[in-house]
Amino acid sequence: MGGTPGRMKNFAHLLMDELDYKLPVGSEISEITSYRFSMYKVGPVLSISHGMGVPSIGILLHEIIKLLYHAKAKNPVIIRIGTSGGIGIEPGTVVISDSAVDGLGNNFYEVAVLGKKVRRPAVFNKELIDEIKSCVDPKNPYETITGTTMCANDFYEGQGRLDGAICDHSESDKLNYLINLKGRVVNIEMEATVFAALTHRTGIKAAIVCVTFVDRLLGDQLTSTKEQMEDWQKRPQKLVAAYIKRSLGKSY
Ligand code: URA
Repeated sequence: MGGTPGRMKNFAHLLMDELDYKLPVGSEISEITSYRFSMYKVGPVLSISHGMGVPSIGILLHEIIKLLYHAKAKNPVIIRIGTSGGIGIEPGTVVISDSAVDGLGNNFYEVAVLGKKVRRPAVFNKELIDEIKSCVDPKNPYETITGTTMCANDFYEGQGRLDGAICDHSESDKLNYLINLKGRVVNIEMEATVFAALTHRTGIKAAIVCVTFVDRLLGDQLTSTKEQMEDWQKRPQKLVAAYIKRSLGKSY
């Protein structure tokens, strides 16, 4: 899974190359569904966009987990490939999340059910993290690290930015906050808690692999060129494709 339809279309094409997956002559890979989320299938792999933020990916996860259940999928693995803001790390670094906290530092996903707060632990699968880590190409000219990911409920105020439509905090409030996060959190995105919680609750092995687009200690805006960001976005894709290739062997 990943945020945008374009990224997941690219990932489906990357997988076709990596797995040397051949379609029948005259056919080409196409979207299976494109109503709210877009989905592609390459052999046993679904490549699905999940939109922005906790509610969007949460709804999608309910639907995909039901789909996998009815399809009798055995030992499915769900991996989110995403983008994020780094805290004190070089932009372009790849982060494999080993824990998730929300904007208040809570290690759970809280949802209101029947008018009551329900808390679900946000837990990742350690074995899967290690398997993905072992697929890192040592020749990469960038770092791949593990660490805690903060899941914000917003891109602007929720991540301490000053450049949203409204902002009631100062530059120094922001820096104090981010400096305080450093050491506890390595990157910020917008889906990790619900992703970890719903997969953990349903017993599905799951991981998040994100590239960082910006060091938030140095700024709010994503100032790199389009080409640079496209290149960075491929980093989690390549790592996850290598993991998929290794774990499938030749069984597709
Ligand atoms: N996605 C986020 O949620 N935050 C960033 O800073 C970059 C990408």
